[in-house]
Amino acid sequence: MIVKPKGTHDIYGEEMKRWQYVSRVVDEVMDRYNYGMIRTPIFESTELFHRGVGDTTDIVSKETYDFIDRGERNMTLRPEGTAGVVRSFIENKMYGEATQPVKLYYNGTMYRYERPQSGRDRELTQFGVEVLGSSDPAIDAEVISVAVNIFKLLGLKGVKVKVNSLGDTESRNNYRDALIKHFEPRISELCPDCQERLKKNPLRILDCKFDAEHELIKNAPVMLDYLNEDSRNRFLDVQNYLDVLDIEYEVDPKIVRGLDYYSHTVFEIEATVKDFGANNVLAGGGRYDTMVGNLGGPDTPGIGFACGIGRLVTALEKEEVDLPINNQLDAFVLYVNNTEKEYAMALTQDLRLNGFKVETEYMERGLKGQFKQADRLNAKFLIILNDEDLVAGEIQVKDNMTKETTMVKEAEIDDYLDLNLR
Ligand code: HAM
Repeated sequence: MIVKPKGTHDIYGEEMKRWQYVSRVVDEVMDRYNYGMIRTPIFESTELFHRGVGDTTDIVSKETYDFIDRGERNMTLRPEGTAGVVRSFIENKMYGEATQPVKLYYNGTMYRYERPQSGRDRELTQFGVEVLGSSDPAIDAEVISVAVNIFKLLGLKGVKVKVNSLGDTESRNNYRDALIKHFEPRISELCPDCQERLKKNPLRILDCKFDAEHELIKNAPVMLDYLNEDSRNRFLDVQNYLDVLDIEYEVDPKIVRGLDYYSHTVFEIEATVKDFGANNVLAGGGRYDTMVGNLGGPDTPGIGFACGIGRLVTALEKEEVDLPINNQLDAFVLYVNNTEKEYAMALTQDLRLNGFKVETEYMERGLKGQFKQADRLNAKFLIILNDEDLVAGEIQVKDNMTKETTMVKEAEIDDYLDLNLR
């Protein structure tokens, strides 16, 4: 038997209904917030992720799915959505549009060659937003509120918002120097990856998965102490706007994020429901004011977040949130002989075209089997066809709850269902 690749999932049935419901709420909320959907390619040139996401990140240095296409080009399956959106923003000259800032959202699969475990997949689906063109701290608060309000509208209660600031370039350089000073004398105590990170990007040491509990990392200098005045004030503005929007949050100086492109605001939203497991970050994001420039566009600030739909659906399941998913059929059409079958097919199509959710029989079951099937599918009404009734222009309709049967005129079946269902 051929089985699916490690770290991937087949999603179908009830679970898929939850995924679809989440996506519908996402579409609805994005529309209210005036974000337009964007779809970018699932593969892009490898260089985009090296320049956009950063060579020193785990995601790019160890976790990408790379391949050479038949035209000898280096391609990579996207490990995240931001770099592709920024590439598109530049390529399509969206910076020239009159309606700045440009507010985009996406919902799609990403690929990371990680060690598979619960909540950590090799194929994952994220929805996310990117806002390009505004450095107003108020938009940072809006972006965080989009995620929070989607969770809220879904009925998820146990979430915790953690925010931090990585400051501007000057602040980060000062912090970088402080980190080097702190780690350098004892760097040999940390893993080989961290030793490498000290030279390339010491900030990465702080989210090393291997050495997370090491005393050197726990006692490392804290970014917030190195913010210059402008950066500190900007961070206070973001917090003020979060208060204005009534978003609960805590400042967590340990949030550094696993991607190189961030400056100023970074944030993560965790699921706090019991037994969620180690990978409990539902959404993460932050500001990336240098990415557009680094990728060859005009200097343009940006901010966004992404949320893993798999983790979000798991959180909804663990919290036992009752999602309004319709698991009922309006009607099941039953028949016995071939003339009735043709009538059943035509009637089923007609009702479907008129907006009803209807099923009929395709397994040659007898009437008894069809009644059972209708029950399994939670049909509200049973439309039981019978030659004699049809000749008389009538149809037998049984309410599957009350078990009451009514003879309905053929021409009035739509109205009858309409009246009794809506
Ligand atoms: P990220 O923190 O790498 O950020 O991913 C965001 C979310 O995607 C995570 O919080 C998690 O829910 C989900 N996720 C990530 N990796 C996996 C995985 N292996 N398995 C399951 N779920 C996963 C980004 O991707 C940035 N592009 C976010 C962003 C947008 N920053 C600015 N704009």
